[in-house]
Amino acid sequence: MRLVLLGAPGSGKGTQAERLKKELDVPHVSTGDLLRAAVKAGTPLGLKAKAVMDAGRLVSDDIVLGMLEERLTQPDAARGFILDGYPRNLAQCTALEALLAKLGQPLDVAIKLDVPSELIVERIAGRAAKEGRVDDTPETVRERLRVYAEQTEPVASHFEKIGKLRCVDGVGELEEVSRRVLAALPAIAAA
Ligand code: AP5
Repeated sequence: MRLVLLGAPGSGKGTQAERLKKELDVPHVSTGDLLRAAVKAGTPLGLKAKAVMDAGRLVSDDIVLGMLEERLTQPDAARGFILDGYPRNLAQCTALEALLAKLGQPLDVAIKLDVPSELIVERIAGRAAKEGRVDDTPETVRERLRVYAEQTEPVASHFEKIGKLRCVDGVGELEEVSRRVLAALPAIAAA
């Protein structure tokens, strides 16, 4: 299964990807996690990305695509993947389609988790209190939501136009949301 998880910051993409990777037996590939690991390791790429991430804006398309290509060409991704946090704008969408065509692994489906913004703000505030993620401050969350509406929502429209988008209600118990995502996957999931 080659799956893209879409949804606003805090909609539960990472949480659901961690649950579904066991069910689907494919790796969870999160560009946010890859970037945070680079920041933590203090690599040149991480140093470049840090200020942009802290401000809630998008890291440059070239940097993220390079990281993604490296990850998707590792052996465990040959049987599929759950992509979380990519693509985030239309240029990344085009780059992903080109990369997957080159690898002979076209995308099966994009699932969008729908969660109302009041609940998103509540969830991120909860995570900020627990984990202290640097970009979970109220100002940065506002900017991340703005960037999502401006740049990432058109990606969902693109997948809708090509018949690959399925929208799932992301409100409810984790198990319930996972069940809805699994039910929304195309038949290939059951194979
Ligand atoms: P990224 O790490 O991708 O962050 P995000 O998209 O803003 O998403 P989050 O991690 O905040 O939320 P999520 O949807 O995964 O929700 P989660 O499961 O954690 O990106 C961070 C930054 O990196 C970007 O701003 C950008 O700078 C950069 N970046 C990343 N990718 C990039 C790209 N492709 N191009 C350029 N730049 C890029 O859940 C949130 C909270 O809610 C958790 O506490 C969780 O426990 C809770 N929760 C989840 N589900 C439920 C539920 N059903 N009920 C109750 N609580 C729940």
